[in-house]
Amino acid sequence: MQDKILQLLYSTQDYVSGQQISESLGVSRQAVNKAVRSLRDKGFEIESATNKGYLLTKFPQQLCAEAIRCHLHTKLIGNSIKVLDTVDSTNDYLKKLAAKGAEAGTVVLAREQTAGKGRLGRVWQSKKDDGIALSVLLRPELTPAEISSITPLSGLAVCRAINDFCMLDSRIKWPNDVIVGKKKLVGILTEMSAELDRIDYTITGIGINVSHTSFPEDIAHKATSILLETGRHIDKNKFVATLLEYLEQELVSNRYMLSGQAVGDYQALCATIGRQVTFTRGKRRISGMAVSVSNGGELEVMLSNGTVSTVNAGEVTVQGIY
Ligand code: BTN
Repeated sequence: MQDKILQLLYSTQDYVSGQQISESLGVSRQAVNKAVRSLRDKGFEIESATNKGYLLTKFPQQLCAEAIRCHLHTKLIGNSIKVLDTVDSTNDYLKKLAAKGAEAGTVVLAREQTAGKGRLGRVWQSKKDDGIALSVLLRPELTPAEISSITPLSGLAVCRAINDFCMLDSRIKWPNDVIVGKKKLVGILTEMSAELDRIDYTITGIGINVSHTSFPEDIAHKATSILLETGRHIDKNKFVATLLEYLEQELVSNRYMLSGQAVGDYQALCATIGRQVTFTRGKRRISGMAVSVSNGGELEVMLSNGTVSTVNAGEVTVQGIY
């Protein structure tokens, strides 16, 4: 009911009487009063005036499921949204929900993570309300061999959402970091549960630096935030709705496969292409020029002898970027 009241107040952009709300939702006036009180507790500012009714004047600053839903127009991603005050890791929390049968499209966000995980066993840290930590559960009908596209498609979606919403010129550092200039703005960690020939679920965890004004010494030279890049605070809930829309567009509309037009779109935004990269094969470190990205998202690297090597895992260092 809170969602419906919000939609009504948001779409009207004027006072709506309690009577009108209770009639259009088929609930009592007391129920309307109670729902408005709960919305105020969540940070919505709703004025009330005698003989006029309620007026929505402000959305909450902090992450809030009702505010995200109010801006959201997706069919699958975000069909269930949970915002936690604090959690160890949104990926781990969502894994537990997935094991209990949570549906595809479920999204978990947290204002703070106490044990946020990065790729390759690293830690992802952020102070409360500085960043957005978000995880998305999907259940694509693919085999484990076909799943490699989820990561680059998610990177593409995040990059587009940032450029559109924040008016930034962010790029993708293969496979899925999002960078501005030479500094990292977003990290993505995709995990999956699968049998030999069938995916049970994937969880794509996205960490975005939003309101940071500084970073710990060890990463200060290679990390940035939306606030540092734009000088502006963003409406986090509206941004999350935009991001979920781009994720749906890139993942669901492309049937979870990086192919066709999506490869061209990805390459156009990929900062790694055209740069010297170094990667590990067995115990050898190999260098070459990143030239393209294949269907499925592997990086194609031209070596000095003219052969093209395909890189799909492990760590790649890109010259000129962290
Ligand atoms: C990386 O760049 O190494 C990946 C960072 C991924 C961080 C996000 S924050 C939300 C989700 N929950 C986690 O524990 N990790 C991911």
